[in-house]
Amino acid sequence: MRAEDAYRRFAKYYNMYVQEFMDDIPVYLKLCEGAKDIAEVGCGTGRLLKPLLDSGYRVTGIDISDAMMSIAEMKLNYYIEDGMLELINHNFIKSYTSKQYDRIFVTFYTFNYLIHDDEQTQFIKNVYKSMKPNGIITIDLFYPKTMANPEYEDKWSDEKEYFHNGVKVLMKDNRKMIGEIEERIQIFSQEGISDEIKTCRRFVNKKDMYKLLKDAGFSKIRFVEGYDYSDLHELAVDESTTAGFMAIAEKL
Ligand SMILES: C[S@@+](CC[C@H](N)C(=O)[O-])C[C@H]1O[C@@H](n2cnc3c(N)ncnc32)[C@H](O)[C@@H]1O
Repeated sequence: MRAEDAYRRFAKYYNMYVQEFMDDIPVYLKLCEGAKDIAEVGCGTGRLLKPLLDSGYRVTGIDISDAMMSIAEMKLNYYIEDGMLELINHNFIKSYTSKQYDRIFVTFYTFNYLIHDDEQTQFIKNVYKSMKPNGIITIDLFYPKTMANPEYEDKWSDEKEYFHNGVKVLMKDNRKMIGEIEERIQIFSQEGISDEIKTCRRFVNKKDMYKLLKDAGFSKIRFVEGYDYSDLHELAVDESTTAGFMAIAEKL
């Protein structure tokens, strides 16, 4: 299933699924300081856009899924009317934007949905071209310490229960690793109707990410762990991480 197709079906469950996850927001707010033109690539339903806008930043949300962005549009319509938020359907795998930004955020493992080498390469090159000199890119990535996770590997997780607009929704989750690619099936059942959503994520290690950023022209490439800006743990390229880490780089 292509990312557009998966997210067209996932959109209605997305906010319910991510719940109120906010741990990463402070680090992005800190990285925005001094910036004028800010974009989030893979903005989805606006989880990060809202706190950026609430803090007074003018932001562009970019995504390939109209279904995800239509939820952001509903939620943040007053900022669109005020001219503070622009939502664009654009795919960086295919081209760069005519506008250039001084901050670009690729959050919550969005980059891990790019499966093929050439998609990753084109995406980073086009993002580079869409940045102003001295612009900073931040990419939040996932790379588990071990690919084999017997807890999840090819098993249905226990059904998890959510409430969505007052209606009970059950989710079953099955993941299996094929090399560095995680194939995941989630089944959401609501009032006897089920939606099966298949997504694939490719786990990218720091060494490969370093090369992608360097080859695209980025400098000052660093890797950090944790979301507390005052206490970010700097990681060496070959240091192992528990799961998530961020790549931060500059276009000089
Ligand atoms: C895991 S969601 C993250 C949404 C949001 N950033 C958040 O933090 O809640 C991934 C989002 O990336 C979008 N996406 C996937 N591939 C993309 C691409 N090539 N360019 C832009 N967005 C993409 C999906 O449509 C989806 O909205």
